[in-house]
Amino acid sequence: MSADQAIAIRRLTGNIGAEVTGIDLRDAISETAAVELRECLAQHQVVFFPDQHLDLQQQKMLTAIFGPALQLPYVTPMDAEPEIIRVYKGADEKGGVFGGDWHSDFSFLDAPPSGSVLSAHTLPPYGGDTLWASQAAAWDALPEALQRLLLGRDAIHVGKPYGVKWAPPAKEQSGAGIKMSRGDPTADRERKHPAVLQHPVTDRRMLYLNPTYVTRLDGMSEAESTPLLDQIQRHVTRPEFCIRHSWTPGTVAVWDNLATQHYAVNDYQGHERLMYRTTFSGLSPREMAAVPEKARQAAAE
Ligand code: SIN
Repeated sequence: MSADQAIAIRRLTGNIGAEVTGIDLRDAISETAAVELRECLAQHQVVFFPDQHLDLQQQKMLTAIFGPALQLPYVTPMDAEPEIIRVYKGADEKGGVFGGDWHSDFSFLDAPPSGSVLSAHTLPPYGGDTLWASQAAAWDALPEALQRLLLGRDAIHVGKPYGVKWAPPAKEQSGAGIKMSRGDPTADRERKHPAVLQHPVTDRRMLYLNPTYVTRLDGMSEAESTPLLDQIQRHVTRPEFCIRHSWTPGTVAVWDNLATQHYAVNDYQGHERLMYRTTFSGLSPREMAAVPEKARQAAAE
């Protein structure tokens, strides 16, 4: 029997997330299964594979079916594995956690990751959950006046946590378990990405904004943008657009980084947590820019 014959997909909420069973990701993944998994990710935005217990090579093989692996700046990867980040928080570490605020991974890069893979190894006895929010469901339900304001507009992204101008206070920075380089003035350089994307597989429009890296909307000052971005962020993170995942050892999550924001919950002080993360590349936000319908029709003629 080939590994892909019994793949079962169970939707987990009304707007985001699915659990995939019936596939052992430690085996070679056939092209048929890879196609099904890519389609599943496009539809559900974050997918969970319970009970997989992948080693690092198997995690890299899984990552490769979604796109070429990316080596990220500012976060020190594992010594022998430049594509893998060891997301570790020790029992005695105080302060923040890696990813402990709503964000899309590295959206301030010229070519941000298309998605990430995270596998759970050592977990605290409670807590340490991760949340994802669907920027596609949030777009669908956004008031029309805000849709009109955002469609065709860019947002300005900067590497706030790694730069100088917006550097977070030390108590909010993640601790010694993950080595980061900070204080780099080039991280403060502004990059523009479209505020609204259109998914190449589902054709759904989706917001591409997040509070960790976006400073303002193009054509507006920070003072003008901030109340709007705050309002949009409250909307994106409404519970009906979110899924909260409580990890069990061996579970692997894969998410679409351009269609979601995520948030690692920092509530397991005194306990350790170890995850491994890989990221993959694909189309750039500019290649996925959503354009008003009239412009789309004109381009097609
Ligand atoms: C991240 O990738 O932002 C961290 C997620 C987590 O550790 O739950």
